[in-house]
Amino acid sequence: MSSILIKGARVIDPRSKLDAARDMLIRQGKIARIEKSITAPKARVVRAKDQVVVPGLIDLHCHLRDPGRPDEETIATGSEAAVAGGFTSICCMPNTDPAIDNESIVNYIYKEAARVGLCNVLPVGAITKARAGKEITEFAELQHAGVKAFSDDGDTVADSSVLRHALEYSKAFDVPIFEHALDKELARDGLMNEGLVATRLGLKGSPAIAEELIVARDLLLAGFTGARLHVCHVSTRGAVELIRRAKREGVRVTCETCPHYFYFNDEVLESLDVNFKVNPPIRSEVDRQAIIEGLKDGTIDCIATDHAPHCRAEKELEFANAPYGMIGLETAVSLAVMELINRQKMSWLDVMRKLTVNPAGIIRIPAGCISVGAAADITIIAPDEKWKVSEEQIRSRSKNTPHLNKELVGRVTNVILNGRVKYSLKDGQ
Ligand code: DOR
Ligand code: ZN
Ligand code: ZN
Repeated sequence: MSSILIKGARVIDPRSKLDAARDMLIRQGKIARIEKSITAPKARVVRAKDQVVVPGLIDLHCHLRDPGRPDEETIATGSEAAVAGGFTSICCMPNTDPAIDNESIVNYIYKEAARVGLCNVLPVGAITKARAGKEITEFAELQHAGVKAFSDDGDTVADSSVLRHALEYSKAFDVPIFEHALDKELARDGLMNEGLVATRLGLKGSPAIAEELIVARDLLLAGFTGARLHVCHVSTRGAVELIRRAKREGVRVTCETCPHYFYFNDEVLESLDVNFKVNPPIRSEVDRQAIIEGLKDGTIDCIATDHAPHCRAEKELEFANAPYGMIGLETAVSLAVMELINRQKMSWLDVMRKLTVNPAGIIRIPAGCISVGAAADITIIAPDEKWKVSEEQIRSRSKNTPHLNKELVGRVTNVILNGRVKYSLKDGQ
């Protein structure tokens, strides 16, 4: 393995709060030196002037459709999309076919991800068998096989007693419960956010209270059991407020939002572009502002993609019948740069914290930081580079993104995993 010398970059490490011009030498898979100026004649040089070097990004929430829907995504195509988006570790959700509810599927995912060899793919185990919401899976077996969290994502754990027991068991393993928090009856298969825009468009709405009701219940159960709860894809002002208060009261809760919740509001649905149909739905401007406030004050710990690939034939169904979800791995960094750093003036340290050290802490993996001796998982970003999203460029097997043909700012140029270059823009990739 050859050494790599990254020259002249702005190195940002949220854990140590380093934000300075540095050279970095990577040797034998590890970060060997971080200094103002390094010369290493034998190393492969990556020139990164005017670029930002951050720890390899970590996504706590994506859907890889493997096993089950290789026409939509596989571990191979999902890994390609991940590194193109700057991610070196991704958690894949268990709403596969079959569900990730036993050891053999977890083993399959690790084996296939290792064969592909582009990024760490970390499975999330189902909370209930076949994700049916009734009977809890074998947490010990799944945790032993390597799942990093438990979730029935795609569905809420509707039965409060099942969730209580899941929280109690998870506590023994120190593995968090990732909850897709939406009350099914209140959400009523809503097609978009309930509100003025939905009324105008005549589309059935899914109200904010559907999310808030479950978040409130889950926070009570997390407090009661003392277990760790992680709320997926927070999208409403009320949910942010509930989580902020619970954190203050000492409940062991963390949460994530997704780029589409801080970047868009429900007026984009006027276009009737089915790629805006996601669950939970894109909310009002008031909610979007509250999400941004939650990111700024630390209530929202992470930015996760909820990358949800769907094939064209299904997304081309009429709005009411199309599935929920948009892909997100390859656009997340740009949207964070454009909205949070450029427009909202959040610092690189504060934004990158939510894509590195915070998610690493939640799933307890030794990643997400830059320090001498640490594994060299590194992402390099050109913060001002403009690029146009095109179908040809998208690595995900599915192309369901509302950003198609849009110009974005901020581009991943290089991704290094364990000291090996896994993605390099200038290699024509
Ligand atoms: O937008 C979504 N996509 N929401 C979900 O609940 C499921 C997910 C998927 O798996 O497609
Ligand atoms: Zn979900
Ligand atoms: Zn999801």
